[in-house]
Amino acid sequence: MVVSNDYSFGTGPCLFIVLLQSQMCMSERETWATRTGFIFAAVGSAVGLGNIWRFPFAVGEGGGAAFLLVYLLFIALIGFPAILVEFVIGRRTNLNPVGALQSLATGPWRYIGYLFLVTGFAIMAYYSVVAGWFVRYFVIGITDGYTVADPEAAGALFGSIATGLDSLLYHTIFMAAVIGVVAVGIRDGIEKAVKFMVPAIIVLLLVLTVYGATLSDAGLAYEYYLSPDFGVIIDQWQTLLPLAAGQAFFTLSLGMGVMITYASYLGEDRNLVKDALTIIGFDTGIAVLVGFAVFPIIITGAGIEAAGEETVNAIFVSLAAAFSDITGGRILGLLFFGTVALAALSSAISILEVVVSYIIDQFDVDRRPATAIAGGGIFLLGIPVTQDLIFLDLLDGFVNGILLVLGALLLVLLVGWMIPDAGRDELAKGITDIGKRGDIWLWLVRIPLVVVLVVTLALGIEGYFEFLTGSFSEWLAS
Ligand code: PFF
Repeated sequence: MVVSNDYSFGTGPCLFIVLLQSQMCMSERETWATRTGFIFAAVGSAVGLGNIWRFPFAVGEGGGAAFLLVYLLFIALIGFPAILVEFVIGRRTNLNPVGALQSLATGPWRYIGYLFLVTGFAIMAYYSVVAGWFVRYFVIGITDGYTVADPEAAGALFGSIATGLDSLLYHTIFMAAVIGVVAVGIRDGIEKAVKFMVPAIIVLLLVLTVYGATLSDAGLAYEYYLSPDFGVIIDQWQTLLPLAAGQAFFTLSLGMGVMITYASYLGEDRNLVKDALTIIGFDTGIAVLVGFAVFPIIITGAGIEAAGEETVNAIFVSLAAAFSDITGGRILGLLFFGTVALAALSSAISILEVVVSYIIDQFDVDRRPATAIAGGGIFLLGIPVTQDLIFLDLLDGFVNGILLVLGALLLVLLVGWMIPDAGRDELAKGITDIGKRGDIWLWLVRIPLVVVLVVTLALGIEGYFEFLTGSFSEWLAS
């Protein structure tokens, strides 16, 4: 059933409910009425902490411009074909990820959907804790303003927020918001918020970029960010490759079934390639812009070494210091941290919804108890993260380095090698003359994508093992 155009994004009363597979408004499965509805929802899921929090520290860990180059290559050659894999599965089956895989695949492949659920569950647990930090910084803007102009004070502030009771409180608040939204259905609030969010983030990042450009070490920062040292790529490919691939999948919300779910509401007249390019364009543009905004601030504030040393705290420390420094910084900071919290919310609901819609379908329970059970479990899993950041590494390394990549690999093998004709046919729908592009896509999926994912998975497992036997054992012993 194709809904009427009244469902244009932002006005239709049930739009987000349509997006999010609620049982409340639908008796039959519906399709998106307008292109923008789908694009906004997918962009809302893609743009989140991955772009604004994770990306700068991945650049730092990956040696600056060297990482950026590999990352952009991966988005184009890996992320783009991979998002199309999820799109064709969703639109082909019109089902949630577990059902989709059960209907398309045979043998053990039928169970890939369950892996997505586990991944979503684990990602959400720490995603919520980090999102809680952004909410906390937003609240600081209201209560005290940002008054930590020197990086050390800004670091100490982050230290006091990141773990302990404060962190637990804001994890609770954020999870409660996500659960509330998913349980009740998402009417005007989130619809409007998402529509406002993407432009707002872009404008704020542009303001910060202009501010960054006026700083004394801006030139150094641009060099760090933009001129790659090919020696680093060659020497450190074993770190760079899993880092860039993991980031590409995380930021595009891949490997967890979100894009399968969203595409399951798409009509056959839609050009999946065009939609994928738009979503990727927004997501990548925003991440790249974040780099332009934060590296001048980090490097001017704390020196070039700081860019490489910064980890999970990078964005908080550098920006809290910057907002203390700029005229109007309090308002800017409030807007910035608030908008990021909203961006995180629209990503988080997409993750929780995959788990919830599965529970509803599978166990025939109502939406509210289903959301309470899934959300409650995720909340509990996040509690250790609020108390010690080692649990953030423990979850992130496992989920991002292993589960996400494994899920994506299995999906890619399935579409590329086992049901290629179905995949190619589905891609061709909505495209006037696909020509050889369907085959090119299939070959990208079959070989480069599989090779990169296999290597990434092997390195991810190795890296995680090193973490377990290294810092994690030390932590256990201490
Ligand atoms: N893409 C989101 C971000 O960049 O913050 C995170 C995310 C959302 C990952 C949904 C996975 C997912 F299924």
